[in-house]
Amino acid sequence: MSPARDRVEELLTAAREAMERGSYAPYSNFNVGAAALAGGEVFPGANVENASYPMSVCAERNAVAAAVNAGKRSIDAVAVVTRADEPTPPCGGCRQVLNEFGPQMLVVIETVGGSRAEWTLPEILPHAFGPADLAGGPGGSRSERERASGSPPAKG
Ligand code: THU
Repeated sequence: MSPARDRVEELLTAAREAMERGSYAPYSNFNVGAAALAGGEVFPGANVENASYPMSVCAERNAVAAAVNAGKRSIDAVAVVTRADEPTPPCGGCRQVLNEFGPQMLVVIETVGGSRAEWTLPEILPHAFGPADLAGGPGGSRSERERASGSPPAKG
């Protein structure tokens, strides 16, 4: 079992506690908690809404921000808990943010009723745009890395 998989139950507990403690969702009434695993540490976050609805921040992004603010740059897994009937996948914007810090990460979603879904990030964000698509981004551009490794650019 990978180290991230070994930590899934702990991550889900942290995500549930984050939802119960921190979620501020008086507009949608959709409470979400998340927990990111980075460098062996667990970073919780909950969704935080405000009266200007589009400025609200998802639980996943707050968990990622907590990890990054603690100096982490690589996230191995994220767990998400809601009170929905079925596991709800991360929104598109959050998938993009997750990709920045963990393009291969494990994503586990659970409802308070115990229904669970598990994906890898590439399964829910195929053909992601990421740091390697920008010249001068962390790790260098995709073409620089391909030249260095001798592999041709992907087609199609
Ligand atoms: N929300 C999350 O926290 N994560 C998601 O992946 C989807 C949506 C939040 C945003 C908003 O506060 C509420 O759920 C309803 O969209």
